[in-house]
Amino acid sequence: MKIFLDTANCDEIKALLPTGMVDGVTTNPSLIAKSGRDIKQTIAEICALVDGPVSAEVTAIELSGMREEAKVLSELGKNVTIKVPMTTDGLILCRELSDKGIMVNVTLCFSAAQALLAAKAGAAFISPFVGRLDDLGADGMNLIADICTIYSNYEFSTEVLVASARHPQHFVDAALLGADVITLPPVTLAQLYKHPLTDKGLAAFLSDWENTGQSIT
Ligand code: G3P
Repeated sequence: MKIFLDTANCDEIKALLPTGMVDGVTTNPSLIAKSGRDIKQTIAEICALVDGPVSAEVTAIELSGMREEAKVLSELGKNVTIKVPMTTDGLILCRELSDKGIMVNVTLCFSAAQALLAAKAGAAFISPFVGRLDDLGADGMNLIADICTIYSNYEFSTEVLVASARHPQHFVDAALLGADVITLPPVTLAQLYKHPLTDKGLAAFLSDWENTGQSIT
């Protein structure tokens, strides 16, 4: 399963690159706003930082405006993936761009029906928002299970990109279901390394080792 970072903060990306766990980056208008920086400069910088796909979202909601913005965004880096909302115009643009060989990430997906349409429109990625479904008391991972089944039934190449992930269990559940990608806030990726028994066991090892008076180097 690939891991993308869900952030527009270049410092957060730089800090996690040495882990070798960053396979791409997703951004959205809210994350760009949170960064306080210009979208074109930010996306260009992220594209230079990571080799994998970098999602940059259009902000227009009408097809003509989306087309213009997608042209500008796709020129910012060879690894730019155009993010479009799960709307009629969004999927029309998805089909146009995918026919030109431009990767598209269809975002704000909340149903299996939407995911099926996105795959038929040639999306490279579908982004179901599991956390926001959980927030409503639904089980976002049930949607991931349904999408994985439907995509397998018809051998769609669209990759399931689990989005709106909030905690390590989302990471595990996504992997158990065979999702292709999960996009994680940097803090959640850092959490994946942690377990209290690891900390406790390491402390005990080091304490016992110190008592030997030995050193390896
Ligand atoms: O970037 C898309 C998605 O990951 C947003 O997540 O936490 O705003 O629901 P969130």
